[in-house]
Amino acid sequence: MQIIRELAELRKVVRAWHGNNRRIALVPTMGALHAGHMALVAEAKKRADRVVASIFVNPTQFGPNEDLGSYPRREAEDAAMLEAAGVDALWAPTVEVMYPEGFATTISVSGVSEGLDGAARPGHFDGVATVVAKLFGQVQPDLAIFGEKDFQQLTVIRRMVSDLNMRIGIVGVPTARDSDGLALSSRNAYLTAEERAAASALPEALTVAAAGIEAGDDVEEALETARNTLVSAGFDPIDYVELCDADTLKPARAAHGNLRLLAAARLGRTRLIDNVAVHAPT
Ligand code: PAJ
Repeated sequence: MQIIRELAELRKVVRAWHGNNRRIALVPTMGALHAGHMALVAEAKKRADRVVASIFVNPTQFGPNEDLGSYPRREAEDAAMLEAAGVDALWAPTVEVMYPEGFATTISVSGVSEGLDGAARPGHFDGVATVVAKLFGQVQPDLAIFGEKDFQQLTVIRRMVSDLNMRIGIVGVPTARDSDGLALSSRNAYLTAEERAAASALPEALTVAAAGIEAGDDVEEALETARNTLVSAGFDPIDYVELCDADTLKPARAAHGNLRLLAAARLGRTRLIDNVAVHAPT
């Protein structure tokens, strides 16, 4: 596996692959890789001839009081995992390569970026959309793989690709979970043992609420019960527990169509997010 840090070198590699009609898949990450990231790599391997993974802890998607400084960085271990999984190239640019002096463009996807995490983390999805657009321009993949774990992010990227006529297939991969249901996340490393034990209340509350809504429970009551379950488990504050249309992410008040139940809440100093599908009658 080649580890590439300069744009000129990346361009050379990509040009040669495209010249040989190789289909290239990109798996964008911020590193501190776990089995969830590796599921994206496995999907990329299935669908493409060449796989590029990127590791870049993107400063512009972190708020001023967020964890940019403490975000886990372990590139050597990550590179070994990617190599063992058959990744062809690791694109690991520095901040200076990604945002050179004079950088002045921001991509802002309205609508789907605005509620949920967009409301709780102002500017976050502008940072995500901008860096992902740059990664697409740099790697020029035929397809890119994202996790449903960050469902709103996946929705924002799909909207951007459609709106800007980017010729890149976007593939979503189901959330990889620990045995107790907690979604794998690089941020789970911040949890104390006690918090880690309590954290499974998040997927549990969502699963129970989704099943209830599917069975015809009142939506508001099901959401309120889920919020109360999280409070009892020690989450504070609860940023949101919302039922949304799965395509537009607009709040859904009734159980009809293609829906998604999404939540974000803080446990100690760690902010956790999760979401599940809701199969409501059409
Ligand atoms: P990061 O949090 O490192 O996640 C990289 C990719 O892995 C995202 O597509 C995310 O949804 C996916 N992922 C994380 N945990 C997962 C899990 N448990 N199961 C399945 N997929 C999972 O998301 C980002 O980085 C950044 O915002 C990025 C897109 C790289 C832009 O900076």
